Amino acid sequence: MTVPFVSLAESNSEIKTQFLDSLSQLIDSGSFILGPAIQEFEKSFADYTGTKHAIGVSNGLDALTIALQSLKLQAGEEVIVPAHTYIATVLAVIHAGAKPVFADVDESSFNLTASEIEKHITAKTKAIIPVHLYGQPCDMESIGALAEQHKLYVIEDNAQAQGATFNGKRTGSFGHINATSFYPAKNLGAAGDAGAITTNDSALAERAMQLRNVGSDKKYVHDVIGYNARMDSVQALFLQHKLPLLDKWNAERRRIAARYIKNLQGVEQIILPSVIKDAESVYHLFVIKTDNRDELQQFLSGKHIQTLIHYPVPNHLQKSLTHLGYGQNSFPVTEKLCSTILSLPMFVGLTDGQVDYVCEMIKEFFL
Ligand SMILES: Cc1ncc(COP(=O)(O)O)c(C=O)c1O
Repeated sequence: MTVPFVSLAESNSEIKTQFLDSLSQLIDSGSFILGPAIQEFEKSFADYTGTKHAIGVSNGLDALTIALQSLKLQAGEEVIVPAHTYIATVLAVIHAGAKPVFADVDESSFNLTASEIEKHITAKTKAIIPVHLYGQPCDMESIGALAEQHKLYVIEDNAQAQGATFNGKRTGSFGHINATSFYPAKNLGAAGDAGAITTNDSALAERAMQLRNVGSDKKYVHDVIGYNARMDSVQALFLQHKLPLLDKWNAERRRIAARYIKNLQGVEQIILPSVIKDAESVYHLFVIKTDNRDELQQFLSGKHIQTLIHYPVPNHLQKSLTHLGYGQNSFPVTEKLCSTILSLPMFVGLTDGQVDYVCEMIKEFFL
């Protein structure tokens, strides 16, 4: 049996016919940039997330960068980010002209916690970026309370957690302004690059809309230094067809996760992912921890099971970020995670037989 790490075939095939029909209409209309398809998707995505506004942009990194820039951060101001995240979270702070300050994550949830964040708050701190890594929500109650106490902005990085909830409320609706990515393999994936910003703050939404569109909300009038970071209509159409299926797909991911957990419980050498109280994960990734990670990965590969590591090199040790001045042992939990985590196959369309085979092979390796 072969088990790929991810396959988009099943989810994409569910919408392919409708998408192609609407694409044909789009081509006839010629409305490729900031047309009705964008407005319709923005409305649907804002309603889904539970925010007043959603702004379609070119990708998740641009969504984060523009969200941060809409806050008018000044050079030298600090933004606290998790040491354990995809590098885009960090790059966005740098692109927005501020300074990323890492905080270590909690080993069992993989995420930032209020107590870790608090250790890094200084007079220069302006914002916090909680990342709902692997689809697992951060504790937004305690992070929100801490931010309020210190008058800090919260920008959720919801790239991996579309549809997840904390206290019954969707992630991407807690922060002052939030960002997500529709990279094709995300829970809600586009047919190319795309992203979105969500917010309840109309002034921030207006600024973000200008920033994504060459600093303009009126043709050839440019009030701010902007980007060309618009979502294109083809992506908006694709996403509009997929959005109504997202909850069903997330439920399927949770079912697959439950099957992994049931099958692998009792294998002492691995630690299974756990979900924090009041949260519902959408398992963008299913990540286990083991001291024998590299050997296990190699063994599984020999059994035609593809696994990946998210992420093998901690951000604070990336060559591109050496100027931030961190070194080995700066963030022990993140460093330990990077050498022990392994992401197992997880996608809509993964069969029970495939999940059982992965689990059997993991047991064979350890027992
Ligand atoms: C946590 C996180 N933040 C930001 C991004 C950036 O998104 P994109 O690849 O669309 O730029 C990603 C996805 O790749 C991500 O996983």
